[in-house]
Amino acid sequence: MSAPNSDYDPVEVTPLHPDEIARMRDEALAAVAAADSVAALKQVRIDHAGDRSPLALANREIGALPPQARKEAGQRVGQARGAVTQALAARTAEVESAELERALEAEKVDVTLPTDGRRPGARHPVTTISEHVADIFVAMGWEVAEGPEVEAEWLNFDALNLGPDHPARTMQDTFWVSPEQAATVLRTHTSPVQARTMLTRKPPIYVVCPGRVFRTDELDATHSPVFHQVEGLAIDEGLSMAHLKGTLDHFAQAIYGDGMTTRFRPSYFPFTEPSAEMDLLCYVCHNEPADVASCRTCKGEGWVEWGGCGVVNPRVLTACGVDPERYSGFAFGIGLDRTITGRYDIADLRDLFDGDVRFTEPFGVEL
Ligand code: DAH
Repeated sequence: MSAPNSDYDPVEVTPLHPDEIARMRDEALAAVAAADSVAALKQVRIDHAGDRSPLALANREIGALPPQARKEAGQRVGQARGAVTQALAARTAEVESAELERALEAEKVDVTLPTDGRRPGARHPVTTISEHVADIFVAMGWEVAEGPEVEAEWLNFDALNLGPDHPARTMQDTFWVSPEQAATVLRTHTSPVQARTMLTRKPPIYVVCPGRVFRTDELDATHSPVFHQVEGLAIDEGLSMAHLKGTLDHFAQAIYGDGMTTRFRPSYFPFTEPSAEMDLLCYVCHNEPADVASCRTCKGEGWVEWGGCGVVNPRVLTACGVDPERYSGFAFGIGLDRTITGRYDIADLRDLFDGDVRFTEPFGVEL
């Protein structure tokens, strides 16, 4: 049996000397205590608790000790490392909460303060033109009438002499509201407001009604399942087609300027007799021989369709409780979207319905 190797004294493994371990631990604890940010603590963790820290290196030396010395040295190093780990955890919690406090203080927002950073909005051109149209008629002594967008089938069709077999009543053209027995549609035009007005007021009646209407159209650059019309209705004694023409001429000039010329073409609507389509002289080429052929707006026609109109059919007066022997009247329905896209040369109708504020902003507040 060989004697213990008297040359080998564990005390001489310097890194494992109790004083040395205590020094490493105290240095580490001092560094932890001095660290005042999460970043500084990260560095302290690397320097004093990482794989290459003095205590980790000391730990590796334990294996070189004789077995009987390993336990004590192991305990000493383990306790020192434990103390450093604990101190790191405690300090990290402290520093993190201090940093959070600081951030909350620095980024504090007083939501009650008044702000001047509000971005002014802009009115949608459909709103602006609807109000402009209403103003033009109110200035002539007319009133503004309203009706619901979800409308009774009877008012949308029957009262206006659109019989049960009329093609406009099919599913292909009209949004029907279920259940079928409810006999309710999304109004396909603003004309039911005529019927509503006659049923609730006594003549003389002079009303305009700008509003939203619905048809089962595709959505593309020139069609939309929702669009806007303005309806007009005048009922009085002695009204004729001449009053209609004078009114619409004035209306066109109020919108497009004094030189605007209109044209009537014979047409058919079940609720008017006679009926006409009204066209505007093309506001781009003015039907000038040199420009008309290449004009994109009127497509070489020289005229742009504006809407339908006519003398109110006596059958409609009767259905709505107005005496056709005493009263007569005229009515019109004009597309507002076309009026806007034409006037501002907007190529894609969808821009009017997308609700993108970047489209609306250039229109500002006034049309
Ligand atoms: N309601 C018709 C349409 O949507 C437009 C119209 C034509 C309205 C003639 C009228 C009118 O009041 O008299 O196509």
